[in-house]
Amino acid sequence: MAQPWRGIIAEYADRLPRTENVVTLLEGGTPLVHAPHLDSLTGARVYVKVEGANPTGSFKDRGMTMAISEVADQGVQLVAAASTGNTSASAAAYAVRAGIGCAVVLPAGKIAAGKLAQAIVHGATLVAVDGNFDDCLRIVRELTEAHPVALVNSINPYRLQGQKTAAFEIVDVLGDAPDIHVLPVGNAGNISAYWMGYNEYAGRRTSASFEDSATRLPPVASRVPQMWGIQAEGAAPLVKGEPVEHPETVATAIRIGNPASWDYAVEARDRSGGWIDSVTDAQILDAQALLAAHVGVFVEPASAASVAGLLQAAEHGRVPEGATIVCTVTGNGLKDTATALGSRTIDPTVIAPTLDAAVKALGL
Ligand code: F0G
Repeated sequence: MAQPWRGIIAEYADRLPRTENVVTLLEGGTPLVHAPHLDSLTGARVYVKVEGANPTGSFKDRGMTMAISEVADQGVQLVAAASTGNTSASAAAYAVRAGIGCAVVLPAGKIAAGKLAQAIVHGATLVAVDGNFDDCLRIVRELTEAHPVALVNSINPYRLQGQKTAAFEIVDVLGDAPDIHVLPVGNAGNISAYWMGYNEYAGRRTSASFEDSATRLPPVASRVPQMWGIQAEGAAPLVKGEPVEHPETVATAIRIGNPASWDYAVEARDRSGGWIDSVTDAQILDAQALLAAHVGVFVEPASAASVAGLLQAAEHGRVPEGATIVCTVTGNGLKDTATALGSRTIDPTVIAPTLDAAVKALGL
């Protein structure tokens, strides 16, 4: 009989810094889906890592099981997170599992409806800020320094420890690291976590690694991939090389002007021989539609930035023939149906409840 998935901490206990008193929703173990349509557009062999299949619908759950387990163990009663939506949804759900409170600080009017609903139904206290994510993160940093509240943004190092397990899963499925890994970049925690995970599986450390857990086991992978980070054009501080004061993009999850993990992301880019590039909102929405219509995976706009970046690289002749490429699609499309539908009509013809009428409506 197949063994049920036990959540990332139990599955990768030997490679994580904490494994006791685990708060989990059995996150991780997400599908790595081969996408022949993307092969045909790029000349490579392309997989999508479907992180929207996590319990709260995004990759954030991998980091949240670690961070909430750690702070709950220390007796913390209240956690706080700044968020563009997914971190708050995840923090709220894991706080419920830990039996502790959760406060989320969000940019007013810039959170997709599904994500806001998640924070609300999980009972988080919402604070809406007349400002952007960077303002929210500053407030949460100051709040958690001055009050007995634990910070669970990705500047909490346990978050990246959990998120690195996505790289482990990819190597476990493919048998070795891919040639190239492409992912969207907002606050830059995830690119840093993948880079750490790939390196640790190859027996190396990165600046984000914990000394005690990083390389105590023999290597599993023979190499590390090139890391390609993709930002939205209106929120591309890492491409520009300086913070963006007023970030703007339809992909609200990555509407961030001053990423907290800036230095780690630059390390991932430079040490891997990769790059961080940007794509327009139109490219993001096109890639989202393409993934839905040709791959069968419905992702949120920010997630589609990875695929938009890959397709742009292919157009510029920068995708090596036959390379194995993994694109992380970070969050579930159901979180933001309004953006996905855009101006599309959602008014199907209403028919009489008969087979004849259905046959006619289908033109059969
Ligand atoms: N994709 C999605 C769906 C996200 O929610 C985020 C970040 C990213 C990509 C970028 O990842 O920040 O590690 O570079 N969302 C955070 C949040 C900021 O608050 O939910 P990153």
